[in-house]
Amino acid sequence: MNPRDTRVVVTGAAGGIGRALAARAAAEGARVVVSDIDADRLRTTAADLGAHAVVADLATADGVTALVEESTAHLGGIDMWIGNAGIQGGLGLDTPDATWHLAHEINVMAHVRAARLLVPRWLERGGDHRGRFVVTASAAGLLTMLGSAPYSVTKHGAVAFAEWLAATYGHHGIDVHVLAPQGVETDIYHAAGPAQGLLRADGLLQPEDVADALFDAVEEGRMLVLPHPRVADYYRARAGNPDAWVRGMQRLQRRLDDATAELSASDTGTPAPSTSGADVPKTAVRGGATPATPAPDTPVREIANGATAPTGPRPHPEEQR
Ligand SMILES: NC(=O)c1ccc[n+]([C@@H]2O[C@H](COP(=O)([O-])OP(=O)(O)OC[C@H]3O[C@@H](n4cnc5c(N)ncnc54)[C@H](O)[C@@H]3O)[C@@H](O)[C@H]2O)c1
Repeated sequence: MNPRDTRVVVTGAAGGIGRALAARAAAEGARVVVSDIDADRLRTTAADLGAHAVVADLATADGVTALVEESTAHLGGIDMWIGNAGIQGGLGLDTPDATWHLAHEINVMAHVRAARLLVPRWLERGGDHRGRFVVTASAAGLLTMLGSAPYSVTKHGAVAFAEWLAATYGHHGIDVHVLAPQGVETDIYHAAGPAQGLLRADGLLQPEDVADALFDAVEEGRMLVLPHPRVADYYRARAGNPDAWVRGMQRLQRRLDDATAELSASDTGTPAPSTSGADVPKTAVRGGATPATPAPDTPVREIANGATAPTGPRPHPEEQR
């Protein structure tokens, strides 16, 4: 890690990826503040890592401000901010405005509010590396997440904000990184039950792997951090032929719809009409990897599971143009 990055704040650090990021920073010799809304788990994490705990609600401007100010007072300044707290935040078109709003507050505005406070202070410093700002987004922020419009939209927003920040302040010595993983074994994975096999399909990473990927990117000066390398192939395929990509996602969604219909028919004893000859395992549907109750980043995992070509949805021959 850059020797300058000695005072680190990690949000959403009570467990999962945030805890691993904080542990890696501490192992690098950094002095660390861990923050979360879950006070009990946060205190345990802070004690384990020898970090300072600040309980804060990152969905509010007051929460972000309180965390920045308390961390600055405790550490004497902040060199690296890792905005990792995030929520899935709803499903389809019937998601209420309030749920959309909450997802936007945590997944997007928490980063904007933190940068608004930190970047002007960093700009007052001299040198080539004045401050480091990390956004935990998701592969869903580069691609999409079938079943959760708020997660897809807000994670795209998080990626867009990080890119804008890097473009605007990179030449002023502000380093920016955006983390875009797929499946990682956190509480989310353990809640998936029988769908765990499906979630492992594209390589289920440990939170520590994500932390390693970030700190490698810091060393190498890379903004976009892809702990699952295949996401780069999917991202390229989507950019190269967006219409073919979407058609592939539509086929995948139909298969998931069919699997959901089959499952509810078998529950009621009524045969279900098939629209696409779906072969999505019922266990995956029961486990939550469906449009109705998805685990984050399900579509890219499904793609990797053989529903589509390895480098993204395979266009029908007539569609390739
Ligand atoms: N696990 C995955 O497969 C995966 C994949 C891609 C991206 N991500 C992203 O990684 C980040 C960490 O997720 P995780 O997988 O470790 O899950 P997690 O649920 O263990 O971690 C999220 C943390 O954020 C905290 N949090 C939620 N709302 C908060 C709020 N209002 N204020 C402060 N803290 C709040 C939670 O208490 C929790 O500790 C999230 O941004 C998530 O979207 C996860």
